[in-house]
Amino acid sequence: MSLADVRWIDLGSHLDARGELYFAEVGKHLPFVLPRVYFIRNVPNDKLRGTHGHRTLEQVVVPVVGQMTVVADDGKNVREYRLDNPARGLFLPKMIWREIKDFTPDGVCLLLPSEKYDEAEYIRDRAEFERLTR
Ligand code: TYD
Repeated sequence: MSLADVRWIDLGSHLDARGELYFAEVGKHLPFVLPRVYFIRNVPNDKLRGTHGHRTLEQVVVPVVGQMTVVADDGKNVREYRLDNPARGLFLPKMIWREIKDFTPDGVCLLLPSEKYDEAEYIRDRAEFERLTR
């Protein structure tokens, strides 16, 4: 996959005097069925999350609280996406190297992956990622 496949996904929303509700439904907002969710919070401003690629997993990242930056890299080009709107998630296809950085102190990102956790599916070695994307 290439950076051209990275895209924003607008969530569904219902905003009224009681507050804000956002939703993601398979087929409407999400291009896959969810077998797992996780979230990341309390990330020191100088720390990086991610720093890996995925052989098969796709994922949507939603900045539920605060802001953070996703650096996406397909082995040829690199692009940064500032996640600052909880109504909008970033879709990352497989074979994209990603780092998540510059969390605001309150930052919480919700991760919506297409697969259960499987370490064998991760590419954690940058040299291997470059070999596979060459
Ligand atoms: P890690 O992959 O380092 O997180 P990041 O997304 O920032 O790269 O994950 C840290 C540890 O958590 C690692 O040992 C695997 C474990 N983990 C699970 O057990 N289940 C999960 O769903 C996830 C995302 C991680």
